[in-house]
Amino acid sequence: MLRSHQLVNRSRMAHDMANLGVSPGDTVMLHAAVGAIGWIVGGPEEVLGAIADVIGPRGTLLMYIGWEGSPYDITVGAGELPPAFMEMWPAFDPATSRAMHAWSVLTEYLRTSPGAQRSSHPDSSFAAVGENATEITRSHPLQYGMGPGSPLATLCTLRGKVLLLGAPLSSVTLLHHAEHLAQVPGKEVVHYKMPILQHGTKTWVDIEEFATTGCLRWRGPTDLFETIVREYIQGGHGSIGRVGEAPSYLFDADDLVGFAVDWIETQFSHGEDEDVSVTVRPADPSDHRILVTLVRAMHEETTDAQMPEAQASRTIDEWLEAKDRRVLIAETERDIAGMIVAAALSRQRGSLSHAFVVPEYRRQGILREMEMDASAYLREQGCCDVEIHVDAKNGVAQTAWRSLGYAPTIESMERPL
Ligand SMILES: CC(C)(COP(=O)(O)OP(=O)(O)OC[C@H]1O[C@@H](n2cnc3c(N)ncnc32)[C@H](O)[C@@H]1OP(=O)(O)O)[C@@H](O)C(=O)NCCC(=O)NCCS
Repeated sequence: MLRSHQLVNRSRMAHDMANLGVSPGDTVMLHAAVGAIGWIVGGPEEVLGAIADVIGPRGTLLMYIGWEGSPYDITVGAGELPPAFMEMWPAFDPATSRAMHAWSVLTEYLRTSPGAQRSSHPDSSFAAVGENATEITRSHPLQYGMGPGSPLATLCTLRGKVLLLGAPLSSVTLLHHAEHLAQVPGKEVVHYKMPILQHGTKTWVDIEEFATTGCLRWRGPTDLFETIVREYIQGGHGSIGRVGEAPSYLFDADDLVGFAVDWIETQFSHGEDEDVSVTVRPADPSDHRILVTLVRAMHEETTDAQMPEAQASRTIDEWLEAKDRRVLIAETERDIAGMIVAAALSRQRGSLSHAFVVPEYRRQGILREMEMDASAYLREQGCCDVEIHVDAKNGVAQTAWRSLGYAPTIESMERPL
């Protein structure tokens, strides 16, 4: 451990943070993976000390600390709770309830620092020390606790900063505030119950908020928050450096929220979020015309060449007559959204081909739906394995198949003669 990590002391960390742009008087929200910084002389608490050294007596340090004993996972979406459970579960007490250890060892250190204040939200409390600690933690709405009036909103108003020390870009809690503010349809709302103290008596309260486990249905290959923050950085915003050994970032909170709200509204405002209800069914001769259209569209998209209609028509005839294959069609309430062809090549092995989803229906899980039905058909035929052939240049198809559990086996190579 000692050999694999540099020794990093408080003054080195303070120096690195100042280089990153942390300044006296700053209000800083911290996300830290302490182990990434190095072997810290004096222990993890020195990270908080180093920040305090840089921001000075007029500065403020805050963290999202939550509650280690939160019954969120049990009560979310659960409706009525058994009386014995309600009796048994202890109430959240802002003065003593432990912080979430999994979010960093420093959450509990900060909560128990001299002069630390804690907001009163039972599931998503914040702790803060310094000049603006009271302003940040004083009012934390029970309902929609990441929205207006929340510590995150105050962080923006105070022109605060977000500091990541070795923490992943996906951990930027502030983006929950952006999710809240973004005017897009279909954000998932959750309901849960929390035991809080009211005049010294335990009371169960109902809480409603946008799901912090992903209220937007994002289908990208990387985490939504990571994707947004990465694009923000690529646009030249924020500063990047190292604190000790840890890759570290510093962002202006209000600017990042503004960027994220615009980004989310651009990505999610056009109905990508609407539920598409899809039925997958075997094609029959009455689907001949639409299949010709789909096959030709696919051919044009993947080869940049036109397929004559007569040729497409013959191909469809062969498919529909063959005993060892099944053409499946994905259908929405309004129209045909895609097709796939499953063929039993031998008693052991099947293949899938001609997977095509109409462009406006892509990224909504239609290939996933079609693949499930096609695999079921092949299993019925006794197949144990299924293969597909993907053009090496078709990056989207490769990604899609990989995320459906397919892995490359042979690589076929060629060159013009
Ligand atoms: C490839 C194709 C069939 C995918 O259909 P789709 O309905 O958009 O795919 P799905 O929505 O079911 O996505 C399945 C997975 O693929 C991945 N994926 C799909 N399109 C992606 C893209 N453009 N970028 C990154 N990942 C993508 C996602 O990870 C998704 O998983 P997730 O939903 O868990 O995030 C579609 O893009 C298409 O018709 N392309 C043209 C024809 C073609 O190339 N066919 C493949 C021949 S092998």
